[in-house]
Amino acid sequence: MCGIIGYNGLEEPVSLVLEALSRLEYRGYDSAGVAYFDKEKKIEVVRASGKLAGLVAACEGRSGVSGSAIGHIRWATHGAPTEENAHPHRSGPIVVVHNGIIENDRELRETLSREGFVFSSETDTEVVAHLVHRFFRETGSLSESVRLALREISGSYALAVLCEERPGEIVAVRRGAPLLLGEGENAYFFASDVPAFLKWTRKVMPLPPDVMAVVGPEGLSLLPVDGGSPLLPLFEEVPWDPVAAEKGHYRHFMEKEIFEGPRAIMDTLEGRLGPGHGRVMLSELSRLGPSPPEIVFVACGTSYHAALLGRLMIESLSDIAVRVEIASEFRYRPLRIRKGAWVVGITQSGETADTLGALEHARREGFLTLAVTNVPGSSVTREAEATLLTRAGPEIGVASTKAFIAQITAVWLLALHLGRREAEKTRQALEILVRAPARFEGFLGSLDLPALDRLAEKIAASRFVIFIGRGLDYPLAIEGALKLKEITYRPADGYPGGELKHGPIALIEPGVLVVAPLVDPDLAAKEWSNIREVEARGGTVVTVASPAPGQPLPSYLLPERNGWEGVFLATAILQLLSYRTAVLMGNDVDQPRNLAKSVTVE
Ligand code: F6R
Repeated sequence: MCGIIGYNGLEEPVSLVLEALSRLEYRGYDSAGVAYFDKEKKIEVVRASGKLAGLVAACEGRSGVSGSAIGHIRWATHGAPTEENAHPHRSGPIVVVHNGIIENDRELRETLSREGFVFSSETDTEVVAHLVHRFFRETGSLSESVRLALREISGSYALAVLCEERPGEIVAVRRGAPLLLGEGENAYFFASDVPAFLKWTRKVMPLPPDVMAVVGPEGLSLLPVDGGSPLLPLFEEVPWDPVAAEKGHYRHFMEKEIFEGPRAIMDTLEGRLGPGHGRVMLSELSRLGPSPPEIVFVACGTSYHAALLGRLMIESLSDIAVRVEIASEFRYRPLRIRKGAWVVGITQSGETADTLGALEHARREGFLTLAVTNVPGSSVTREAEATLLTRAGPEIGVASTKAFIAQITAVWLLALHLGRREAEKTRQALEILVRAPARFEGFLGSLDLPALDRLAEKIAASRFVIFIGRGLDYPLAIEGALKLKEITYRPADGYPGGELKHGPIALIEPGVLVVAPLVDPDLAAKEWSNIREVEARGGTVVTVASPAPGQPLPSYLLPERNGWEGVFLATAILQLLSYRTAVLMGNDVDQPRNLAKSVTVE
């Protein structure tokens, strides 16, 4: 939610900040802004409502001098997405960008207004600009003013601050919102996510909470807000390829990322299969000790759907009890789980406030926690005792695709790691997983695109789309419905196939389409019966399945192979169906309305 950029270096800052913001546009697209020093060493602030293109147009012909600059892309929380509410916000010489929520902004607004500060926006961020300004008048030091201002505010924030009287300086700090620090050649970068500065450097350090990063004439200092001794910067090379954050020859990031699914599986498996690929070795889990009696997954959205698949996989290979919980609900309930249980948070971004809150809740009550995340160094890696990284690479499209594939791989690995009860089943499941990337790649290389387009036209012509599935197909069905809603805005819902007759079947009428993935070998026959019930009531059905004796030819044919591997293939087809329907409808696929990639607010 919102993305911020800070830069200190020798390059022309306006074009650099705009380019960096374009890599963060997935985080919000309600408005954008930039602040930089002009030739007279005055700070220029340019802001525009709407997508980044508006700011790019407003910056046409502008350039700044080398030194410090900041930028922002907004997902509105306080105040409408207007130019007045766009960041950066200014108070006298102080200019601020912010990601997060200042919880005591009302009280601070009243106090600061009484002191004579004039507010020009409805945002919570403006109080930070005025507070820093107030303390700068008293102290004349930018870092000291930020430190004093932080004492007054509560809430979550990643902030980058400039001061007109201190060209060449920049101060950044975070608490409860992500901020990464990058070290380039004669330059430092701050950003909400790594892809923003991957073009310039891969040397990254997550900024610890409550530590100010101060860049000035003497270079970089890391100063704890509580006045403790300065920290030593510790940069690490991230393995991400800058090209991974480019669209290449694809029309949209989402399309490119769907085709990166096989790579996401392969990279997530890397180094985790023992000699001869005979067993799974998750050394990351050694800190958690022996297998638990119970696993509780906590997650949101697509990651929750991966957790549902994880439950089925773990239950099938071990005797561990598994629960799956929506993080935003779980975090406020009393914990009634078995002693010794592991609470496993799945989160692509590693920054989702609800998932972090759920893990914190569990940790406070003494449970061991594991994070499954795609972003090394993200907040969840600090919150949980252990981390199992998915390795999908940066995911830019707002609708999650390859990260979901990597999450399925991770929970599959977890199931194999824990699978003691069913030795033969575990061996087979491992064999399938090892072969999956190559087979999945072959499948994507021979897609029936005309068939996909015909089905996309059917979906686009429907008023309402119901996704059904049983067993492994249920998480796929609800994920399929979520994907369709997100990028086509078409009303859609997902149900377990067996539930249809308990209510939703009343919705079946002309104009309503039912989509059914059928990859679960044990339950496909039962799902075909549910499909018959729909057809008997005049409903139209789209099936994604392998050919099955005695059943009609599926609408989209999967290869003759069933079981867990089919999960990847059917997922890709459902993702592509949503993608191609959205393109057909002329929607903005990578930046669907009202959404943001990482949800750092409750
Ligand atoms: C859907 C989607 C969201 C996220 C959810 C959790 O395409 O992307 O539903 O899955 O917001 O995000 P993470 O996984 O970052 O915790």
